[in-house]
Amino acid sequence: MSTANPVSRKNAPKVDLDATREKLTRLGLAHASEHVAETLAEAAKESWPAHRFLDRLLEAELSVREERRLKTSLRLSGLPTGQTLGNFDFAFQPGVERGRIETLATCAWIRAKENLLIRGPPGVGKTHLAIGLAIRAIENGFSVAFHRLEDLLAALKRDAEVSPQRLRRRKHMNVALLVIDEMGFEVMTREEASLFFRLVSYRYGRGAIAITTNKGIADWPEMLAGDEVLATAILDRLLHRSHVLNISGRSYRLRELESVATKSRAGN
Ligand SMILES: Nc1ncnc2c1ncn2[C@@H]1O[C@H](COP(=O)(O)OP(=O)(O)OP(=O)(O)O)[C@@H](O)[C@H]1O
Ligand SMILES: [Mg+2]
Repeated sequence: MSTANPVSRKNAPKVDLDATREKLTRLGLAHASEHVAETLAEAAKESWPAHRFLDRLLEAELSVREERRLKTSLRLSGLPTGQTLGNFDFAFQPGVERGRIETLATCAWIRAKENLLIRGPPGVGKTHLAIGLAIRAIENGFSVAFHRLEDLLAALKRDAEVSPQRLRRRKHMNVALLVIDEMGFEVMTREEASLFFRLVSYRYGRGAIAITTNKGIADWPEMLAGDEVLATAILDRLLHRSHVLNISGRSYRLRELESVATKSRAGN
């Protein structure tokens, strides 16, 4: 922008980019402030109408914020990285219906505060799918916390004496989606089972829970300290308005082993 010949522009409105930048910064629009000059130059070069320039500038600010929000939410959720719905090989696991996963990926069940149970033997992709769906939930703006059952139980035990008011502020209590990974590897003690009941019962109707497990429903009482009554009460709340994915396929972890074995058989 030329500042030459100030006399002829005496009555024209001042265009002071530094002042504009400062205003944008003061409004908290840091990215727009940094990029206003180049966006303005592009607007002049392409003869954009004013609304297009404004829209571009705001769009850039929003997309940077969204990226930052995603990064922060992913970090705070405790979700492992690298497993997404995009890199789940549906062809390898034909028992997993892509359409069902896509429906779950809309996150309507999370908004409706429903639950998801992903069941199956080791290595079939239970954790991978739970993580992929949880990432999608974050992308859609839901708050998420991911815990392996062991860590969650440790946190619940630390909080055993905490007042209900403070307890409600815990992330695992109030996030929109709580993912509990690896239920069934260990049998819970009575104390753990009753703390787990407190969690499930608090979240019932308030927030969604996704659980991955290698255990069938019939095995839950044994997993929950052998307490039939508690197990029934927990399952009742978990399974009321829930989605169940039963995966009964091959282990992805063993696929390379299988292909080595196939090759060596072919070689013999
Ligand atoms: N269909 C798939 N496509 C791509 N990667 C997969 C698929 N299934 C599983 N994997 C990968 O294989 C590994 C094991 O999968 P995952 O941890 O999800 O299994 P799991 O069912 O949770 O097993 P476990 O019961 O032992 O916890 C992970 O690294 C995961 O990313
Ligand atoms: Mg797993």
